Amino acid sequence: MWEETKEITEIVLRAARKASQEPISQSEQALPGKAIHWPVECAIGPGLEGAIACESKVGYVNGLQGQLVYRGYDIFELCAYSCFEETCYLLLHGRLPTSSQFGSFRKQLAEYRHVPKTLRLLMSFPVEGMNAMGALRMGTNLMRQEFTFGDLEIAKPDIAQAHESDEDTISSEADPGDKAESFYSFDTTNTVVLTSMEETIAVSGSRKPAKGIRHQEVLQDTSSLDSCCHLIAGAPTLTAAIARIRNGQMPIEPDPELSHAANYLYMMTGRRPTEIEERIMDIALILHADHGMNASTFAAMVVASTLSDIYFSVGAGIAALAGPLHGGANEQVIHMLRQIGGPSNAKEWYAKARARKEKIMGFGHRVYKAYDPRASVLGPLARHLALENKEAQVLFRTAEALEKEVIADLGQSKSIYPNVDFYSGIVYSCLGIPTDMFTPTFAVSRVAGWCARVLEYLKKNRIFRPRAIYTGRLGEKYIPIDARHSAGKPSKR
Ligand code: CMC
Repeated sequence: MWEETKEITEIVLRAARKASQEPISQSEQALPGKAIHWPVECAIGPGLEGAIACESKVGYVNGLQGQLVYRGYDIFELCAYSCFEETCYLLLHGRLPTSSQFGSFRKQLAEYRHVPKTLRLLMSFPVEGMNAMGALRMGTNLMRQEFTFGDLEIAKPDIAQAHESDEDTISSEADPGDKAESFYSFDTTNTVVLTSMEETIAVSGSRKPAKGIRHQEVLQDTSSLDSCCHLIAGAPTLTAAIARIRNGQMPIEPDPELSHAANYLYMMTGRRPTEIEERIMDIALILHADHGMNASTFAAMVVASTLSDIYFSVGAGIAALAGPLHGGANEQVIHMLRQIGGPSNAKEWYAKARARKEKIMGFGHRVYKAYDPRASVLGPLARHLALENKEAQVLFRTAEALEKEVIADLGQSKSIYPNVDFYSGIVYSCLGIPTDMFTPTFAVSRVAGWCARVLEYLKKNRIFRPRAIYTGRLGEKYIPIDARHSAGKPSKR
C-alpha cells in the first residue's frame, strides 16, 4: 500500500519538516528520563493543571515544542512509516513487534472485530435515537457482558438461547402473585464448565456466582491484554454499526482481508475505501491514539485505580471524551465552519465571537503552547482530500481563514493555535464519516491509549484520591424542615 500512497507519506514528512522549523520560545522543563523521587513538588492549578499523578512510559507530550511521542517514537515518524495496528501493539507492549508478533496481533484483532452478540444486544436498544457516544459507551459495556466469564458463563446461559427465549418462548406472567418462582429464571439444565479456573466448577444457571469463584479473579480477567485487544478491535465495529443503525441500515460484518482503518470505513460506509482513503484514516487513528494525561485518559485511569475493570474504564473514557472541551470539539468545529459559511466571512465572524468572549472550537490546549503536531498533519491531509470535494473545499478554506484570524489575535499573546480537533472533522467528512460520528471516531482510536495507560498504571496501582480545598461553612445547626421558613438565612461563620 505504501507505494500507492507515497504522496500521503510525503505530506506527513513535509509537515514534520515544517514543524521542526517552528521557532520555540521557551524550553521544556520536565524532560523524560529524569529519576523521580516521590512525593513530587509541583504547582497545581484548578482542574489539576500542572499536577503530576503518576509516572508513565507510554507517551510524552512536550507542549512547548509541539512534540508528541509514543513509547519514544515521534508521532510524525509513526504516521509516515507505521500503521494503527502496529501503533496499538507499540502502546500496549512498549516496543514495536517482530513480524510474527505482528501477525498474531493482527489475527487476534481480526477475530475480535466480530462482536455479533454484542451488536444483537445493542440493537435491542433505541440506538437510532441515542447520543452516538452514549450508544458507544453502552456498546463497550455490552462487550464486557459477553467477554467476562463471570457474566457470560455464570450469570447467563448461552446468549443465543437467551435471545431465542426472549423472542419466542417466554410466556408472560399472568398472575405473579408472591410466589418465589414467579420471576424468570434461566434453564437450570444448562451446565457450564469453566476450565480457565484452577478448579473446574460446574455451574447451574443460577444468577449468583458459584462458590469458589473469587470476585477479584473475575475483575483481573477483564483488565488483561486480551480484553484490551477485544476493546480496540470491537470499538470500530460498534461505532460503524451505530452509524448505520442511526441511518436506518443494518450493520456490516468486518472483512478479514482489510486493515483496521479500511475495515472501519468499510463497515461504516459499505464501500471498500481507496488506498489513499485507507492510508489517511490510518494516519488519523495513529494521531488520536494517545495523548498524555488528558481528561478521558485520566477518567479511565481513575476508574481502573479502584480495581474496577478495563471495560468500565473505557466506558468512563468515552463519557469524558464526549464533552465539547475535549473530543466533542471536532463536531463543534464543523458546525462552526458551516455557520461561518465561507472564507470571506471568517474575519467578521471571529470579531463578533471574540466580542461575545466565546471560545473558538478547535483552538487552544492545556499543554500545547505551540502548534499541535497532530493539527500540523491533519491540516494538509484535509487540504489534500478537499481538492476533490466542493463542500469540503469551502470548509477547508474557511478553516484556513479562521486560523489566520485566531493566530494573529491569540497566537503570540496567549499561545493559542489549532488543536487536533480543528481539521480532523474535514478529513472525516471527506472519508464519508457522518458528523455525529466524529467524536466516536476519536474514541475508536483513543481506546488504545486508554488501555495502554490503564494496564501500565495497574502494575503499580494506587487509588486516585485528590483533595478539594473546603471553602464551605462549618458548625451549622440542623433545623427541622417546618421551622426553616422562619429560620431565615443560614448563620454566618
Ligand atoms: N478560544 C479563545 N480563547 C481561548 C481558547 C479558545 N479556543 N482556549 C483558551 N482560550 C483563552 C481563555 O479564554 C483564557 O483566556 P484568559 O486568560 O483571558 O481568561 C486562556 O486562553 C486560557 O484558557 P483556559 O480555558 O483556562 O485553558 P484550559 O487549559 O483550561 O483549556 C481547552 C483548554 C482545550 C479546554 C480550551 O483551550 C478550549 O476550551 N478550547 C476549545 C475547545 C477545544 O478545542 N477542545 C479540544 C481540545 S484538544 C483535543 C482534546 O483533548 O480533545
